[in-house]
Amino acid sequence: MSTSGLWCVVPAAGRGMRVGGDRPKQYLPIGGRMLIEHTLDRLARHPGIAGLMVVLSPGDSLWPELSTIRGKPVLTTAGGAERCDSVLAGLQTLPADVGDDDFVLVHDAARPCVRLDDISRLIERAGAGEGGLLGAPLRDTLKRADAAGCSVLTEPRDQRWRAFTPQMFRRAALSAALREASRRGVIVSDEAMAMELAGCAPRLVEGAEDNVKVTTAADFALAEFLLGRTAPAGKE
Ligand code: CTP
Ligand code: MG
Repeated sequence: MSTSGLWCVVPAAGRGMRVGGDRPKQYLPIGGRMLIEHTLDRLARHPGIAGLMVVLSPGDSLWPELSTIRGKPVLTTAGGAERCDSVLAGLQTLPADVGDDDFVLVHDAARPCVRLDDISRLIERAGAGEGGLLGAPLRDTLKRADAAGCSVLTEPRDQRWRAFTPQMFRRAALSAALREASRRGVIVSDEAMAMELAGCAPRLVEGAEDNVKVTTAADFALAEFLLGRTAPAGKE
């Protein structure tokens, strides 16, 4: 791993359709600041992160034009139609000194509550192998629904995990896996899925469940509450 730290690709090119606001959710306020500013600030606070590559929707006019955060470089590039296209665009635009075998992190702009100690654990455990992701074992009973919305089957819960971000893989391996998934016409929902299709078994690293992805309008109040509770130590 490069001693200068890891770059983090932050996909932020989505439209936030499920929130249904007057602008993409990453630009809506939480506690007086844009959602994306909370996320980027938290990532930049982590001592293992060297820089941020934020992937924006082409023609985005709401991005606050940040070029550094907490002294760390913030670069931007244009994303694509699906999240996986945006992540690949970010990987391709990383600075040249990020080597093919260097690990990179990918973290959703929509997850502002990620804990710094979870990022540290991911870096340590996933970095000991060929990469991995934060997640949590499923706690609720899992039901299979029919078309009418009735429960027809109880699915086994053992060995089922929810996948979060950050996810961490080597730059070239992840780029190749995303390209291959795209060539096969598979829209992967996260980086780990692309790596699984490529025959890898990413390390699952258990993280706090309050690393929520802000998805609906109701999640803003939850995220505001959690941001206070998961605030990293240190000066504002
Ligand atoms: N994302 C992206 N490029 C896309 C789609 C999504 O960079 N083409 C980003 C989003 O901005 C978000 C993250 O991927 O930070 C996770 O996606 P999601 O929560 O689904 O956000 P949206 O796609 O914006 O929301 P929705 O699916 O409700 O429209
Ligand atoms: Mg989406």
